[in-house]
Amino acid sequence: MPHDPAPAARRLHPLLAGRFSPRAFDPSAAVTDEDLHLLLEAARWAPSAGNSQPWGFLAARPGERDHTRLLPHLAPSSARWAADAGLLVVTLARRTVGGSGVVWSEFADHDLGQAVAHLTFQAAALGLAAHQFRAFDLDGLTAELRPSPGWAVVAMIAVGRAAGGPPAVRERRSVADLRTAPWAEPPP
Ligand SMILES: Cc1cc2nc3c(=O)[nH]c(=O)nc-3n(C[C@H](O)[C@H](O)[C@H](O)COP(=O)(O)O)c2cc1C
Repeated sequence: MPHDPAPAARRLHPLLAGRFSPRAFDPSAAVTDEDLHLLLEAARWAPSAGNSQPWGFLAARPGERDHTRLLPHLAPSSARWAADAGLLVVTLARRTVGGSGVVWSEFADHDLGQAVAHLTFQAAALGLAAHQFRAFDLDGLTAELRPSPGWAVVAMIAVGRAAGGPPAVRERRSVADLRTAPWAEPPP
């Protein structure tokens, strides 16, 4: 995969060009009530299939009771940096209608991801950074949070002030590969 070190050199929006997933957070930088509200406002206004809004968030900051419920479920690899972030968010998708097995939205996870993207870029606009992660005990966290039937824990996000910049090497597939890889033959 080619090393593509300069997203900022392309004419991307600065919030997109400057985004990265920090591997260290400043533990002294708090996420304020207003920041938290704006992050969830950004998620709230994301588009979704049929306006189904199949997303839910548990947000907790250091010192809050929910934060102490989340910390034991972090994997060692994420605990190294996520525990220092000013905010931890658990993301949940509404996949079925209660426990019925009837699909609430076939796009639930797609739409959740889009809401998280909105949250991520609102974070950047506030001078914060977000690192999404799966490195936690999914079964343990689900048992701890006991989401309502139909809802599933999907991922977590650490949000805070980055301590340090992006890594020197950031690999990405090329634009051409995005357009051609899904087809064995040239696309029609
Ligand atoms: C759904 C999801 C799960 C992720 N899980 C992890 C994880 O468990 N641990 C980790 O260090 N990073 C995790 N990441 C972050 C990615 O590794 C990161 O976005 C990718 O390497 C690109 O780096 P960048 O975000 O700095 O551009 C995850 C990202 C997403 C979107």
